[in-house]
Amino acid sequence: MSALFFKRFLQKPFQIASIIPSSKALVERVAGKMAFDQPRVIAEYGPGEGVHSRELARRMDAQSRLFLFELDPAFSRDLERQFADDPRVTVINRDAASLSAELTLRGINQCDYILSGIPFSILEIKKKRALLQDTYDVLKPGGAFIIYQVTNELRQHATFFDRAESEYCLQNIPPMFVTVFQKANTRNGHAHTTRLIRAVSANGAS
Ligand SMILES: C[S@@+](CC[C@H](N)C(=O)[O-])C[C@H]1O[C@@H](n2cnc3c(N)ncnc32)[C@H](O)[C@@H]1O
Repeated sequence: MSALFFKRFLQKPFQIASIIPSSKALVERVAGKMAFDQPRVIAEYGPGEGVHSRELARRMDAQSRLFLFELDPAFSRDLERQFADDPRVTVINRDAASLSAELTLRGINQCDYILSGIPFSILEIKKKRALLQDTYDVLKPGGAFIIYQVTNELRQHATFFDRAESEYCLQNIPPMFVTVFQKANTRNGHAHTTRLIRAVSANGAS
């Protein structure tokens, strides 16, 4: 067990939300949802002590970039240390909600993949929806938002993604749903239409 992980859990149980890092089986299952056959821009929400980040960095090519959004300062310092010699990886000690502002600062507009390990289910509903919207907006057409969570409740909120597929990974404590939310691979197609329909309904038009 990672001593740092357990210590941070004791300090902030609701934010850390787990007493041990993801298992090797879960890490491989999640990384297997991404294609590394070309340079990728990946953002990770809540890397913790970096068990998924290390696997992504191992699979990425030299031109790829990985942005780690971690709220906890002790985890962030540890991630900085681990990736000090890897210019592809940037650690950002801020809320995942700062995604688009932080990427814009670095001249990045879009991601191929966004991976999340944060406890979405306990986020206040307005914050949850805003984060899902920002995540969708920052993804490239054809990109994917990948989450691992104890419950699969996010599916009911992330309805504007064009497709969602879940599977259950038993080889983790606790077992987790791994869900891939896909953004359609078209600039003016289904994704755009879906957002237009949502915008129109939000404004009260029929
Ligand atoms: C369950 S742990 C997952 C850690 C790691 N990804 C793993 O699989 O072992 C959740 C992590 O998300 C971080 N976190 C929680 N809310 C966050 C937020 N809004 N933005 C960024 N990180 C957040 C916590 O500090 C913690 O490191």
